[in-house]
Amino acid sequence: MWVVIRCPSARPRCAHGPKQPRDLQVNATRHSLLVEPRRSLLDALRHDCGLHGAKKVCDQGNCGACTVLLDGQAVYACLVLALECEGCRVDTVEGLSEGEVLHPLQRAFLDADALQCGYCTPGQLMSLKALFDLDPRPDDAAIVRALAGNLCRCGAYAHILDAARAAAGRGGQNDAR
Ligand code: FES
Ligand code: FES
Repeated sequence: MWVVIRCPSARPRCAHGPKQPRDLQVNATRHSLLVEPRRSLLDALRHDCGLHGAKKVCDQGNCGACTVLLDGQAVYACLVLALECEGCRVDTVEGLSEGEVLHPLQRAFLDADALQCGYCTPGQLMSLKALFDLDPRPDDAAIVRALAGNLCRCGAYAHILDAARAAAGRGGQNDAR
């Protein structure tokens, strides 16, 4: 049975405490940070690393807009403490493209018109990247499971599924566009 694990740590959160130095490896860059124990990975990425691709929407593990990869696994960055990420590899949507060259998933999203406001898009892309890194040709069921934790308030689900199908080499309903 497939389980979407978005909060890999079951350890209780500590609330306050002195800032501690931590090195975070994010995409290809090492960031040396001073972070409070309660600092979420999402806040560290957005406010300390200057990476705003992962979005803060619910900040409660409900929407998936903050999804990033932690050692290749899709996680909600709002539910992970920055302190816990030292020694891990964090991948964010900013690291998907190579310079001007879009990642195939990004290209597929554009081709399938798989976004409206785009606020959920970074999270959708990172959830799919975790899947495609394991299985470059996922079937629809696997795609739907991978995206189960990502909400889209604009209701672009059909086009998002089309984009994922196209990236998997099966084309989509909209592949003629
Ligand atoms: S902001 Fe993290 S799940 Fe919504
Ligand atoms: S495109 Fe607007 S929330 Fe998904």
